[in-house]
Amino acid sequence: MPEQKPIKITETILRDAHQSLIATRMPTELMLPIVDKMDQVGYHSVECWGGATFDASLRFLKEDPWDRLRKLKAGFKKTKLQMLLRGQNILGYRHYADDVVEYFVQKSIANGIDIIRIFDCLNDLRNLEASVKACNKEGGHAQIALSYTLGDAYTLDYWMNIAKDIENMGADSICIKDMAGLLVPYKASELISAMKSATKLPIQLHTHYTSGVASMTYLKAVEAGVDVIDCAMSPFALGTSQPATEVMAETFKGTPYDPGFDQNLLAEIADHFRPYREECLKSGLLDPKVLGVNIKTLMYQVPGGMLSNMVSQLKEQNASDKYDAVLQEIPQVRKDFGEPPLVTPSSQIVGTQAVFNVLMGERYKMATGETKDLLSGKYGRTVKPFNPEVQKKVIGDKEVITCRPADLLPNELEKIESEMKQWKQQDEDVLSYALFPQVATDYFKYRQAQQEKVDMTQADTKNAAYPV
Ligand code: CO
Repeated sequence: MPEQKPIKITETILRDAHQSLIATRMPTELMLPIVDKMDQVGYHSVECWGGATFDASLRFLKEDPWDRLRKLKAGFKKTKLQMLLRGQNILGYRHYADDVVEYFVQKSIANGIDIIRIFDCLNDLRNLEASVKACNKEGGHAQIALSYTLGDAYTLDYWMNIAKDIENMGADSICIKDMAGLLVPYKASELISAMKSATKLPIQLHTHYTSGVASMTYLKAVEAGVDVIDCAMSPFALGTSQPATEVMAETFKGTPYDPGFDQNLLAEIADHFRPYREECLKSGLLDPKVLGVNIKTLMYQVPGGMLSNMVSQLKEQNASDKYDAVLQEIPQVRKDFGEPPLVTPSSQIVGTQAVFNVLMGERYKMATGETKDLLSGKYGRTVKPFNPEVQKKVIGDKEVITCRPADLLPNELEKIESEMKQWKQQDEDVLSYALFPQVATDYFKYRQAQQEKVDMTQADTKNAAYPV
């Protein structure tokens, strides 16, 4: 019998919930007035940074993501702040050298992050080493997230062994990151029990409501001894987001799993976010389509976002009738690529290649640059080997990398800093630029223009008050 103890809850409304439902567009000014109340709930942590928040802040909201973090930290006096980090990719789309990863982790913690959830799209732990080490060094809590997926390679033994490896790496906790909502309730029981038997580290479960089973999955996981679950306040829960915080808290009320949350306080917090939800529905930013149950994600074991990408790729090519053929091609491509989990960026690599294979009428007649990189080992190691024939067809006799990919990358921080120094107003600007060079430069220009505007107005006011 697993130990019965109060379940801990991570609140995701300030990161994953709005990333999943409204393309990460919630502005800082909407968050700040409610932080004080959220700080009283008793959350294990509040996830509020990383993932797409960084890019979306700079690109669409014209906000400095570092400034958001500092403001949230000033408001959350007792609740731990959590972020999501894509290992050696940090928050960007390529592998960075270790010096950039270390500097980013250092600055994230210095600006207010307590817990860093780190994952890799291939579950190649070597891609997480640098970030875990840096997080330990800075005194942060390093959580390794395993991208959950199904397939021949993903037996209970696989999950138990990798849990032991994570413990040996010096991580502080493990998260099962079920980005597509593939983990069904009874499988969750099995998985959590097995992993609890393999490691002493706390285990957190992260899932999405996409396939409609998520709250049942949490119930079974909690009974099996999971330590923490990720929930979102009801105005931004369900659909492609997480189960609702209020509902999970009420589910466990009066049981040994009761998190002890005050429903009146939760209601006040929900009241704050509800008008914004209505506004997003009205403007179309929140599409009712993402709020329903998408059963295809369970049938094809493909994340919802990947399905919608595929639909638009096919539409562009006037080949919408090939949708079913592509769906059937995905498992084959995934097998040829060593059965990786399907999460950014492996989901895009597999999906796009499946589209190419079907449109060309021949497998791997054309390969994307990313497919070539993956089969050259540049993303790291997959759980199963690549199909050697496919590898040969795509990259010929080109050399294949078998070491940790970042071992081949020379330090690059100095070079990055010299490229952007005309814009630098704080150390953190170097990191914004490293991750999104173009987007950050546009933001820096915007920021400068705003500052000049303010200077001008001040000069005007001065002149008005003291006419010469
Ligand atoms: Co998520």
